[in-house]
Amino acid sequence: MSGNIKLEICDHADGVARQAAAALAGVIRSRSETVLGLATGSTPEATYAELARMHRDEGLGFAGVTSFNLDEYWGLGGDHDQSYRHFMTDRLFRHVDILPWNTHVLNGRARFPELECRSFEDRILSAGGVDLWLLGIGGNGHIAFNEPGSPVDSRTRLVSLTQETIDANSDGRFFSDAAEVPRCALSAGIGTIREARSIVLLATGDKKADAVAAAVEGPFTEDCPASLLQDHPDCTFIIDAGAASKLASR
Ligand code: PGA
Repeated sequence: MSGNIKLEICDHADGVARQAAAALAGVIRSRSETVLGLATGSTPEATYAELARMHRDEGLGFAGVTSFNLDEYWGLGGDHDQSYRHFMTDRLFRHVDILPWNTHVLNGRARFPELECRSFEDRILSAGGVDLWLLGIGGNGHIAFNEPGSPVDSRTRLVSLTQETIDANSDGRFFSDAAEVPRCALSAGIGTIREARSIVLLATGDKKADAVAAAVEGPFTEDCPASLLQDHPDCTFIIDAGAASKLASR
C-alpha cells in the first residue's frame, strides 16, 4: 500500500526546516486561534529556529497558538534539562510570544499517570482538536514514543521505550549514557495523532531511509507505526534526499 502520504523531498536538511516552518506559519496565519501539535528530537530543532526567526524578523505571532507536545520522559520534571518541557522552552517557547499556559507538555512526574493522560486528551478536545501535528520518525518507524506493535487506536498512555530508542537518545546528542535515559514515557497514542486535521512528518539523513520507505511504501502495519498514517486524509512527509534514498518511487 502506498496510501495517501504526500511527499516533499528537499535536497538538504535546511530545506526541510524551511518548508516545515512555512507549513506551520501558513496554518498560524490562516486563523486567529491555532492548535499545533509539536515534537521534540534533533530533527525539528532547525524548524523551531526558523519559526523563531520568522517571529523576530517577520512578525509571525504565536499569541493565538495553543500547543500540545507528543510526549515526555516518565520520571523527569519540566525543570530537568533533558525533559521535553525544557527542550520546548529552550528551542521555541522562550523565543516567541506563545502564552505559557497555552503550552501543554505531559507532566513526567504526575502522581497519577492515567489521570494525566486523560486530562491531556481532554485538553486537546477542549481546544477543538489539533490543526497540524508535527512529527519526527524513529529509525524503527516509531512516532512519538509509539514503538512497533502500538495499536492504531492507542491513546495517550504510559509506554516502555525499546532498547533501540534508548540507544538512539544516548548517542551524545541528549543523554551521554544509556543508563541515564528513562525507560518509560508518557506518549500521545497513534489514535490521538491520527485525529489531527493535518500531519507533517519530518525526516532527515539516511539513518531514517528504511523507516521512511517502510512507512510510505510498505504495508499498513503496527510493525511500522508511521505506516499507520497512510490512510490519513492530509499527511505530508517533508524529507531530505538522504531520508528519501530508499524510496522506490522517488
Ligand atoms: P530525532 O528523533 O529527530 O532525534 O531523530 C525522532 C524520533 O525519534 O521521533
